[in-house]
Amino acid sequence: MFGITRFSGFFSAAMFVIVLIILSPSFQSEAIRSSHRFSFRKALPFRNAHECAWVSAQTKVCDPSLVHVAITLDVEYLRGSIAAVHSILRHALCPENVFFHFLVSDTNLQALVDSTFPHLKFNVYYFDPNTVSHLISSSVRQALEQPLNYARNYLADLLESCVERVIYLDSDLVMVDDVAKLWSASLGSRAIGAPEYCHANFTKYFTAGFWSEPSLAGTFAQRRACYFNTGVMVMDLVKWRKEGYTRKIERWMEIQKSDRIYELGSLPPFLLVFAGHVAPIEHRWNQHGLGGDNVKGSCRGLHPGPVSLLHWSGSGKPWLRLHSKRPCPLDSLWAPFDLYAQSPF
Ligand SMILES: *[C@@H]1O[C@H](CO)[C@@H](O)[C@H](O)[C@H]1NC(C)=O
Repeated sequence: MFGITRFSGFFSAAMFVIVLIILSPSFQSEAIRSSHRFSFRKALPFRNAHECAWVSAQTKVCDPSLVHVAITLDVEYLRGSIAAVHSILRHALCPENVFFHFLVSDTNLQALVDSTFPHLKFNVYYFDPNTVSHLISSSVRQALEQPLNYARNYLADLLESCVERVIYLDSDLVMVDDVAKLWSASLGSRAIGAPEYCHANFTKYFTAGFWSEPSLAGTFAQRRACYFNTGVMVMDLVKWRKEGYTRKIERWMEIQKSDRIYELGSLPPFLLVFAGHVAPIEHRWNQHGLGGDNVKGSCRGLHPGPVSLLHWSGSGKPWLRLHSKRPCPLDSLWAPFDLYAQSPF
């Protein structure tokens, strides 16, 4: 028995080292100062493989060969957003064909992006917090009330009208597979695609008052509504604009203001509009929950199955835990993509 335990312990340690070797090619990079408040190292240059569709440095946002990724740049989560972008570039066969759409609300972060990722194709979009501030109600976690959390609702308006599809990503994740695979996911007739979790208890995302009011709960009649996480979504912006989904989400937020039908932030309105109408995407594209829950010090493991994206959703963030020298085991999978200059690891 002792021998078996020792062997399995050795085996998992060996596997862990192998994973680390795969995920951490030597990221030499030179330290640069980008702004008075933040300092990120310059990422290694990224180059397309020969088989990639040809693009040049001058290729504009409307070029049909581009893969579009939208992500917020927020002071609180900046280190996470930069690591997410870095992870996408490192794993893409055609990194020069990825166009980033950065959503910002306060600081001018363009220079920082430019110096961290030279030659990156990107635009910065200002999301006015006043667009949603009157629609946000208090939630169980203050971080969920940040207006920028709601910018994903407005991508169809914010992005250029020639952008017909976009991958929206949260800031607390890293991609460990080629973004082009997620990009080519089939959405069928649906406006959004995301991994669905039909075994999750859907009831708990809404209040008892919601479920007892037929005029509200009736919205889920005739639908097989399943939970999905809004941190990784493939969005058909043509369909979104045509169906006016932004307004539909806003209507539920207005109801929430007067009736309090849920406790979380930007997720429930998405469930109200889309649950049961989501194109299912493989679960490997959102291994979520790695942040752990609200219990301090709780660490989560991976769900079974392959992994293409690791998502530290929940209240714990890997950069904070690494900084406080109390990381969870899986936080070491985030660290190789960290470009923060004062990084102690
Ligand atoms: C689902 O959640 C609701 C509300 O929290 C709870 O009342 C119910 O018992 C749960 N159902 C199951 C099957 O766990």
